[in-house]
Amino acid sequence: MNYRHSFHAGNFADLVKHALVLWLMQKMQADGPLHVLDTHAGAGLYDLSGDAVRSKEAEAGVARLMTADNRPALIEALADEVAQFNPQGGVRFYPGSPVLIARALAKGGTYRGFELNPPVKALLDEALADYPNAQGFQGDGYDLATNAALKSKGPLVLIDPPFERGDDYIRSADTAATIVKRDPKAVVAIWTPLKDMETFDGFIRRLDQAKAPNVVVAEARLRPLTNPMKMNGCTMTVVNAPAGTEAAAKEICGWVASTLGDEKAKAEIWTL
Ligand SMILES: C[S@@+](CC[C@H](N)C(=O)[O-])C[C@H]1O[C@@H](n2cnc3c(N)ncnc32)[C@H](O)[C@@H]1O
Repeated sequence: MNYRHSFHAGNFADLVKHALVLWLMQKMQADGPLHVLDTHAGAGLYDLSGDAVRSKEAEAGVARLMTADNRPALIEALADEVAQFNPQGGVRFYPGSPVLIARALAKGGTYRGFELNPPVKALLDEALADYPNAQGFQGDGYDLATNAALKSKGPLVLIDPPFERGDDYIRSADTAATIVKRDPKAVVAIWTPLKDMETFDGFIRRLDQAKAPNVVVAEARLRPLTNPMKMNGCTMTVVNAPAGTEAAAKEICGWVASTLGDEKAKAEIWTL
């Protein structure tokens, strides 16, 4: 377990993931209290004055988000959240999915985040201490979220692995397919990096073979996929996508690609 999200917190990919999760929550909470399961929770809150300074990823991501003057509504919603953690201005702190989700829960909603790495789980507990409806659990998020989904009606499940293991694509696709098969009201959002199309196609094929219903794929490409060693973009794949997902994804990925990408950057939203 070498992965440390503190190097990547607040990068363009976090912006895509978090802006879309906030929209999904808003949409699903119109039907009542929402139960959110987060297979790979991470630390919950990131101090960008540490590892992130060295990686410069937050500088190219959230720092530009906060100074942009062309933010559409769904991007603005994330900027508003980030601003709450930085009352003095600037961007020293960036909220991860646990804290963002815990804050966005309507009355009666709950958040359960799963984290495998004990020291990261300790940070998660600290970050969630002020949110009584949110709790962290230590263990394998694929298995624990699959079991927890059985006991929640129509949950929103976020799958956000580090992809440092070869089986993360397969386990993500299989976990999503299993959850929606058992509960047709569940919605699952899976984040993946976009390095080359071959790897991503394998993931999509797996979802297709499992007959995952109503799949919307949202891609934000910052540059052409010519160097497979680089994270050239990212995707959010939503299974059982609620009405409006394509338009929301277009707004979010479109802004990220056009504002943070190079001259060949583009957003592509498509369905399976
Ligand atoms: C990409 S980070 C999560 C970021 C977080 N979802 C967010 O948006 O703020 C991935 C996290 O998954 C943890 N992890 C790795 N394998 C795991 C597993 N099988 N189950 C649960 N957590 C795992 C890592 O320790 C790391 O903290």
